[in-house]
Amino acid sequence: LQEPQTSSPTTRLETPAEVIAFRRHFPIFRDKMHLASNSMGALSEEVIEAQRLYLDERLRYGTTWRFAMPRHEELRAAFADLIGAKTAEIALCASATQALGAVASCFDWRERPGIVFDEYSFPSTTYLWRAQEQRGADVRRVDARTDGSLPPQQFEAALDASTQIVATSRVCYKNGYRQDVAALARLAHDHGALMVVDDYQCLGTRAVDVRADDCDVLVSGSAKYLLGSPGLGFLYVKEELVGRLHPTLTGWFGQEDMNAFQVNSHDEASDARRFQTGTPALSAIYESLAAIRLLKEQGLGKVGDWVGRLTRHAMDRLAAEGYAFATPLDDERRGPQISIRVKNGAGVIEELLARGIVCSSRDGNIRTAWHYYNTVEDVDALVDGFNAMPAEWTGRAA
Ligand SMILES: Cc1ncc(COP(=O)(O)O)c(C=O)c1O
Repeated sequence: LQEPQTSSPTTRLETPAEVIAFRRHFPIFRDKMHLASNSMGALSEEVIEAQRLYLDERLRYGTTWRFAMPRHEELRAAFADLIGAKTAEIALCASATQALGAVASCFDWRERPGIVFDEYSFPSTTYLWRAQEQRGADVRRVDARTDGSLPPQQFEAALDASTQIVATSRVCYKNGYRQDVAALARLAHDHGALMVVDDYQCLGTRAVDVRADDCDVLVSGSAKYLLGSPGLGFLYVKEELVGRLHPTLTGWFGQEDMNAFQVNSHDEASDARRFQTGTPALSAIYESLAAIRLLKEQGLGKVGDWVGRLTRHAMDRLAAEGYAFATPLDDERRGPQISIRVKNGAGVIEELLARGIVCSSRDGNIRTAWHYYNTVEDVDALVDGFNAMPAEWTGRAA
């Protein structure tokens, strides 16, 4: 988005002992450098142990419902606590997209058709919004400015009295741009619209308070910065809104009494569990619970502080070496991801992998993701890896 700050001073940052201790929970760091939490978080001993427990219980007892269902509720409570919500506001879904689908199924778009999303949304969610056109929705996309910024004011022209939903991603999956969710929520609410936030590319790396942000709906998933496993989407729906929404995508997990097994009526749950459908991935529930507990032991405030300092340091170091970014330099507009502009994305990824550095590419940029287990030494290794490649690959300024 901006030119690199080649003149910025590079102060030496020390990796705190707590970060080094946290890193030891993740066996991958014995021989690799995991900079891909935006794709899939590193696997901890605790998550491996949780999966073993799930399998052991199935082996020993044949069925696991009586162990799994209490964990289902524990996970709802743990996730609620993580984002400043109540357990009654949380549903466990199959994926982030499916969670949004359950919300979308509640609306008769013909009454109030406007759905506004932005260019930095994850494509999967945009397909879901566009599919609502078949049901009467008027879908509008807000594009970023030419400098790559996407401030709330950019949404103003797309909003009017017909807007039902304003949807954004807190952090963009491709360039790491972090939206000012609280300001965008104010704007959405000024137009009588609901604020829907996709927090899959950030949640787990900084403190979140859904009430302070005033989101109406928030979705995320377990597999990335929340350090769990695929197969689990998290949905928050604000308590005041739950009673007004009646999903038409539903099932037995969405019933007030899921064990009633009656076929006389559809008796939806009084709380956010009404957004659930069938059996969620039980193994992923065990794993995600272990992962969230591990994160909570650290505290998201502390995690956010380190991720903020480490990403700042990494950008300063890379900029000083002549590399350019698709990610904003402004700390307030950056999440846990730094996207580095390169000329040969596939080549750079392969070369980094050969050095044991795991990251990914999108839009021709190298995406590096930073979490509480990443260190200053990871930054050094990344810079060394980049410097070892030809400038025709990395786009390094002379
Ligand atoms: C921001 C964001 N939203 C949604 C998704 C898709 O999540 P799911 O596959 O759980 O629907 C991703 C996956 O990368 C993502 O990065």
